[in-house]
Amino acid sequence: MIQKSQKIKILAIETSCDETAAALIEGKTVNNKQLTINILSSVVASQIKLHQKYGGVYPEMASRAHAEKIIPVINKVINNKAVSIGMRDIDAIAVTVGPGLIGSLLVGVNAAKTLAYALQKPLIPINHLEGHIYANFVGNLKTKNEKVKTTTKNLKVPEFPLVALTVAGGHTALVLMKEHLDYQILGETLDDAAGEAFDKVARLLDLGYPGGPAIEQISARWKSKIQNSKFKTNPNIQIPNSKLIKLPRPMIHSDDFNFSFSGLKTAVLKIVKEEKFDQAALAFEFQEAVTDVLATKTLKATQKYKAKSVLLGGGVAANQRLRQKLTSQIQKYTDAQIFIPPLSLCTDNAAMIAAAAVFHFALKKERENWYNVKAEGNLRF
Ligand code: KG4
Ligand code: ZN
Repeated sequence: MIQKSQKIKILAIETSCDETAAALIEGKTVNNKQLTINILSSVVASQIKLHQKYGGVYPEMASRAHAEKIIPVINKVINNKAVSIGMRDIDAIAVTVGPGLIGSLLVGVNAAKTLAYALQKPLIPINHLEGHIYANFVGNLKTKNEKVKTTTKNLKVPEFPLVALTVAGGHTALVLMKEHLDYQILGETLDDAAGEAFDKVARLLDLGYPGGPAIEQISARWKSKIQNSKFKTNPNIQIPNSKLIKLPRPMIHSDDFNFSFSGLKTAVLKIVKEEKFDQAALAFEFQEAVTDVLATKTLKATQKYKAKSVLLGGGVAANQRLRQKLTSQIQKYTDAQIFIPPLSLCTDNAAMIAAAAVFHFALKKERENWYNVKAEGNLRF
């Protein structure tokens, strides 16, 4: 039960992959029932530049960089001039304990344990995936990525049952939630995660790391080229066959909620090896294939479980094409509300970890002793 007029301040740490992040947030009850979450301070130190030359995350380098950055990042969050609270005013420390790279996770978990011990505060272990879901409960809640001023009148929050699609570099999952902190995995990827597929295909196309934003950019260029070209003004003119690339939509009609993206990567590799191809056209079709599958399966789950809300989360949720496609399908075929976090809360950050922790703190009686909290690379729900 959420208590009346409860205020909770959480300091969260996230180091599961290649971003060293910390955030300070405040959870408040509104209308005596709904917890709203506001970010007081959030810092993300990205390691993208470090890993770019390897075309992907280099785990050993990632943990070293986390070790260097973790204290300065926490310091910056705490010393934000706009935030007039001290470490002693914090109710709990939260930390991502998995899934992720074990060497990276250990840096964050040990920093969080040290703080919890020194400050004598509870330590809340958070699953990275629930963080991506709870990004949709952060601050000035919004639909369609528009910020709506949080007032007690127009407050929009996800309602249960809800379906959450989390799509990132390390995981892809469709999750059903009937209430807070209750996760039922409907489907997962059987091989590559959606973000991993973006990264691998970008590497095949020499587009650099991270692949998602690179593929999105070049695809947008291809789309505007087609739209502005003579093909649009005179539909009788055929687009040359060499420019029409068709990729499969793996498992789009399977009667489960699982995904598979490795075949798509192989199909792209085949084209890259055997044929002359237009790089932008291929990137565009790849993005269409991935987003078609993700949007179709999420719609199906929404209908099957009569979800009242649909939540998108994870790095791939930053993709505009996915945001558009999912929003239009959900709005067209269901009465569910769609929630999509702002871009800064899609890719890894600590505010989303703190958001999940607020609900753990408010709804769970037992407090974890820092001593029992452990990093777990393969953590599941
Ligand atoms: O959530 P995240 O920051 O880290 C993990 O939890 O893995 O997600 C990173 C993934 C990368 O694979 C990256 O290529 C992908 O998210 N990504 C995108 C976009 N921005 C990041 N994928 C497609 N379109 C984007 N705009
Ligand atoms: Zn993530």
